[in-house]
Amino acid sequence: MRLLPEPSAQSLRLLFLFIFVMGVTPSPALTAGCPDRCVCDDQLVVQCAGQELTQFPNDLPLATRQLIISNNRIVDLPALQLNYLSDLVYLDCSNNSLTEISESTFGNLRKLAYLDLSFNTLLQIEDRTFGPLASLVMLRLTDNPSLGEIHPDAFSENMALQVLDVSRNNLTALNISSLIALPALRSLGLSGNPWSCDCDTEDLCLWVQIEDEGQTVCHNPPELAGQRLAEVGMQLRADCHQGLGYWDYLFFIAIGFVIFSAGTVSAWVMGVLMVLYERYSKRKSEELDSDDEDDRGGMGGGGCGGGGGNQGNGDLSKPDMQV
Ligand SMILES: *[C@@H]1O[C@H](CO)[C@@H](O)[C@H](O)[C@H]1NC(C)=O
Ligand SMILES: *[C@@H]1O[C@H](CO)[C@@H](O)[C@H](O)[C@H]1NC(C)=O
Ligand SMILES: *[C@@H]1O[C@H](CO)[C@@H](O)[C@H](O)[C@H]1NC(C)=O
Repeated sequence: MRLLPEPSAQSLRLLFLFIFVMGVTPSPALTAGCPDRCVCDDQLVVQCAGQELTQFPNDLPLATRQLIISNNRIVDLPALQLNYLSDLVYLDCSNNSLTEISESTFGNLRKLAYLDLSFNTLLQIEDRTFGPLASLVMLRLTDNPSLGEIHPDAFSENMALQVLDVSRNNLTALNISSLIALPALRSLGLSGNPWSCDCDTEDLCLWVQIEDEGQTVCHNPPELAGQRLAEVGMQLRADCHQGLGYWDYLFFIAIGFVIFSAGTVSAWVMGVLMVLYERYSKRKSEELDSDDEDDRGGMGGGGCGGGGGNQGNGDLSKPDMQV
């Protein structure tokens, strides 16, 4: 009799324990796919910031729309795992140890609108790195102290890009030919880079005028160090286009010589022609004078008849002479 209540108490305790466990830990349906040390909220926002992660989190829910992996020590963004997340809209990778981003890294993230790669150790940005990100609106690429090179066509396909920030990197030049063509771009952060203000950055200096906020200054050459890019733009334009090269001078000398010799030759020819004409007209007038004298002599012999009569007389006199 005493043994009967004991199993029932045991089973009740087990039941309570089961209910307690069920109540405290999330249901298996919610935990499935949420990575270790991350918090998954409604399966759409995955928050893994500041968890000392050294690798990109595994088992991310496929429907993730926001992924925050900032403040970790992640060294690599694996293209395969990242590109399963085709609904991703927001990706914050700031403050990690990323050194390289390749063209395939973001190959399938066509809905991504916000990307933060600030505070990493990127060295360079290659051609079409962000090419597949057709919906990208904001790209933060600041505070990568060794980032010294951005390919001219790195952003050329990001037609939705509105805000680009490349402040506080190690950039000395930036080819703006493809940035100018981006239809939506309205803000470009350039400050805190060691810009080299020479003829290669002339376009950038001239273009930056609207965007400049004071910290965008030249680092080189020493005589321009500390001057704002926007201020040296006009000076660079003057310096880079005024100087004439050796061939320019040679060209001008050749042109001058051609004009000079053409002038000399034409003056000489004109002189000769004028002398000839003068001689010709002199001879002509002399001939005319002698003709006049001849005429005057004939008229004297013909008596007082008219010109025609005189000729008639001549004609008529011919048979007379023959007779
Ligand atoms: C980067 O993350 C570390 C922790 O991993 C944190 O101590 C540090 O303040 C963060 N730096 C920035 C600039 O957010
Ligand atoms: C920045 O670039 C210069 C060369 O342009 C290089 O000498 C220097 O080491 C770079 N700085 C960093 C932190 O990589
Ligand atoms: C900028 O890039 C374009 C396209 O890659 C190239 O044609 C042009 O020469 C470059 N300009 C400078 C100043 O390097």
